[in-house]
Amino acid sequence: MSGRLVIAIDGPSASGKGTLARRLAAHFHLPHLDTGLLYRAVGWAAERSGRPPAAAAAALKTTDLANPELRTDLAGQAGSKVAAIPEVRANLLRFQKEFASQPSGAVLDGRDIGTVICPDAPVKLFVTAGLEARAERRYRELRERGAAPIRPRVLAEMAERDRRDSERAAAPLKAAPDAYLLDTSDMDADAAFAAALAFIERKGFRSVGP
Ligand code: DC
Repeated sequence: MSGRLVIAIDGPSASGKGTLARRLAAHFHLPHLDTGLLYRAVGWAAERSGRPPAAAAAALKTTDLANPELRTDLAGQAGSKVAAIPEVRANLLRFQKEFASQPSGAVLDGRDIGTVICPDAPVKLFVTAGLEARAERRYRELRERGAAPIRPRVLAEMAERDRRDSERAAAPLKAAPDAYLLDTSDMDADAAFAAALAFIERKGFRSVGP
């Protein structure tokens, strides 16, 4: 291995970044943080309690992240809204930076990992896919979970979330200049993993251990 491996993964929802992050973390035996879950938890807590989002972010505990309701699209929208508030982002910054600086190395995925949280990460991936492809993935995922989603609504909500996450002033979704761009529109999870792994190995990192 060449140095401590930190893998920073950014991209819009349903781009495949979460699956890729989990697979890379397993392959390289690294701890993984899904930072979207932090924003979802803050949005959810603020909506439920009526507390200001910045206060909910300051009081967030890692045990809060286990709530299965955070996986819903409602929680995703709530997370996207509070993520535009600079105080919320500031209150979540230290936890994410500490996670990234563990001696073991780490994998983090989100929207601003390569730009704000880990600007010095040796590996940055920007995972994206066309809006239609991502909306179709989300639609299928919701059906598999037993929901009855409406296709045009899934697409409209995803477009709205993209817009909010990309156009906000505070740490918007964007690729770091040194990120490897991975468009997964026509790739399955195996192909995306293979492409990302080839890129990381070209940088001199290899999996060690069992
Ligand atoms: O990745 P996700 O869908 O779980 O993220 C939920 C919301 O949280 C997303 O719409 C924007 C926000 N987010 C962010 O602003 N910065 C991050 N690093 C991760 C997520």
